[in-house]
Amino acid sequence: MTACRKHELLSELSIKEDFESELIGTVLWPSSYLLVSLLEDDSESIQGKRVIELGCGCGIGGIAASKLGASDVVCTDASEHALAMAKKNIQINCHEGERISTKTYIWGDEESTLGLNPPFDYVIGSDILYNEFGADKLPKALAMLVGKLAAAKKEILSEYKWTVLLVNQRRNPSVEERFMEQIEALFSGCIIEKKILTKEDEMKLLGKEESKLQVNENEFEDYLKGSVFHVLRIRN
Ligand SMILES: C[S@@+](CC[C@H](N)C(=O)[O-])C[C@H]1O[C@@H](n2cnc3c(N)ncnc32)[C@H](O)[C@@H]1O
Repeated sequence: MTACRKHELLSELSIKEDFESELIGTVLWPSSYLLVSLLEDDSESIQGKRVIELGCGCGIGGIAASKLGASDVVCTDASEHALAMAKKNIQINCHEGERISTKTYIWGDEESTLGLNPPFDYVIGSDILYNEFGADKLPKALAMLVGKLAAAKKEILSEYKWTVLLVNQRRNPSVEERFMEQIEALFSGCIIEKKILTKEDEMKLLGKEESKLQVNENEFEDYLKGSVFHVLRIRN
């Protein structure tokens, strides 16, 4: 694998979307571009790591992780249509030597979480927190996937290091609050970094003159006051 230079990965990827479909996971959401850039910032630590992407949609996060040298990547989603898009994008962007696959996974079901064979070194996701279901189910799924909960199958070594990296578009303050409460409880003793980004931060990070966000139709616009992305990084 040739090492990628800073923030050039996005322009090197060719991701197909399906604009005809009415499903939410078949197009790239603005947070996904940010996730790729943030992963690129982590390129040294992601080398050789085992990565899972949640709610992968078109698979851009997992594909980026693989291009950055992750040794094993699984792109997961509840939607078969999204997974088919991710599969197509893996074929376009990844070569045979890359270990990257797709799998159906719905957050919250303990058995399926264990079926993914945690722990993972990196758990990533973009624009996956937007309703109560996610706020309630994601925190425990994240904790299980990094082996934070005892239910993870593999023996956890004390020096084992993991990272959760999520980028979400801020949509609903109560969903975000509910989610963060559980994250803080489940990950107490871990390093929890929460960053709020504005459109200007987004454009700077992506090196673009325009935001990827569409006209802001958010009903919580006053609450957000232009702070439209939520970056959450948890590590031990
Ligand atoms: C807004 S889309 C984001 C897609 C992609 N990550 C992106 O940023 O372009 C949300 C994705 O989460 C998936 N999703 C929603 N609820 C889910 C659940 N309970 N379990 C697994 N995936 C889910 C959807 O199918 C969809 O692909």
